[in-house]
Amino acid sequence: MKPRLPDVSPLRHHWPLTPGMVFLNHGSYGACPSPVIEKQIQLRWDLDAAPVQFLHRRHTPMLDAARNEVASFLGADPANLVFVTNTTTGVNAVMRSLEFSPGDEILITSHGYNACNNVVREVARRTGAVIVEAGIPFPIGSPELVTEAILSAVTPRTKLALIDHVTSKTGLVLPLEEILRGLEERGVETLVDGAHAPGMLPLDLESLRPSYYTANLHKWVCAPKGAAILWVRPDRQETLQPAVISHGNNTPRPGHSAFQDRFDWDGTHDTTAALCAPEVIRWLEGLAPGGWPEIRERNHRMVIEGRNLLCDRLGLIAPCPDSMIGSMSTLPMPAGLETPHEGPDRDPVYVRLFDEFGIELQVFPFEGRRWFRISSHLHNTPDEYRYLADVLERMAAGR
Ligand SMILES: Cc1ncc(COP(=O)(O)O)c(C=O)c1O
Repeated sequence: MKPRLPDVSPLRHHWPLTPGMVFLNHGSYGACPSPVIEKQIQLRWDLDAAPVQFLHRRHTPMLDAARNEVASFLGADPANLVFVTNTTTGVNAVMRSLEFSPGDEILITSHGYNACNNVVREVARRTGAVIVEAGIPFPIGSPELVTEAILSAVTPRTKLALIDHVTSKTGLVLPLEEILRGLEERGVETLVDGAHAPGMLPLDLESLRPSYYTANLHKWVCAPKGAAILWVRPDRQETLQPAVISHGNNTPRPGHSAFQDRFDWDGTHDTTAALCAPEVIRWLEGLAPGGWPEIRERNHRMVIEGRNLLCDRLGLIAPCPDSMIGSMSTLPMPAGLETPHEGPDRDPVYVRLFDEFGIELQVFPFEGRRWFRISSHLHNTPDEYRYLADVLERMAAGR
């Protein structure tokens, strides 16, 4: 007999998620609620009803208004904030604008995101800079171990560190303030990959104050795909170029900095995702009486409850303290399913979870074993983790 299907969240109908799918991987690409998709469709109609009026005359004030609201959500001064299409683009803009000499060191960590590390690898290849990888242990007992691992990898040649705010595979919230303070004291520039942070963690970018901070809005804020930000400290703005250079380099606009001119237009493309970002921030806020603090807290509590249940049911040991978790949690696969799958085809465990049980779950190899990562957002229920436990128990027993 198949496990009993889980209860569905009373908020789930706001998302166009396929009925019957148990969606435990909000972390990979987020999920946009239907009213915001409708708003985006409306904007696209507006755009093509009068393309030149929209893009030539209405676009800048609309983008400015969106920037102002998103900046206030992120604790940012709008003067320091630009939209990019995703975090990878933000990392490309920064890494490919900076100058490195042979022997300069670029610090990354063993929990970094492959696509972003690839940008570093290419820049190092081109310039002769050397990549130093700080090994963050996992399982891990305390956030201090992360700070220690990163700061002990700094040398007098370290020029820049690429640090995740929330790591992708391991789902760890890193102690960013302490890391940034330590790197700053050592004269190291900092690029923060905050792909998962907006919507998951409270943010105050002006007081965090790294050199650069880039992040997605499509993940935990639930914006349409194509909405992301890059925050740049004023002393780093002058020499920064976008990943795509366009008119802005010699086309100043009244009321905008040269930094904004360069980033606000990167060729003709559909910018409605960014224009919808304020809408989704306000819309989600309206779903919880306590607004975003309540949403973040609810998601955090639900994922902790989920991981406790999975640990109890499957005999797993949680690989990090609760304090290092936001709204994602990574756990080792139980005995019987622990051998990692390598290779270009999809992991058979992932495939069976989806094809036979309708569970969308992140399943991946990391440091020699198979892991899985659960997510929690308003469209989830605690009962979905019970269902996952039922299914994994059965699969681990070879049934
Ligand atoms: C930590 C981290 N950085 C960067 C990215 C890249 O995001 P995008 O593909 O939207 O550029 C991801 C995506 O999952 C991520 O988890």
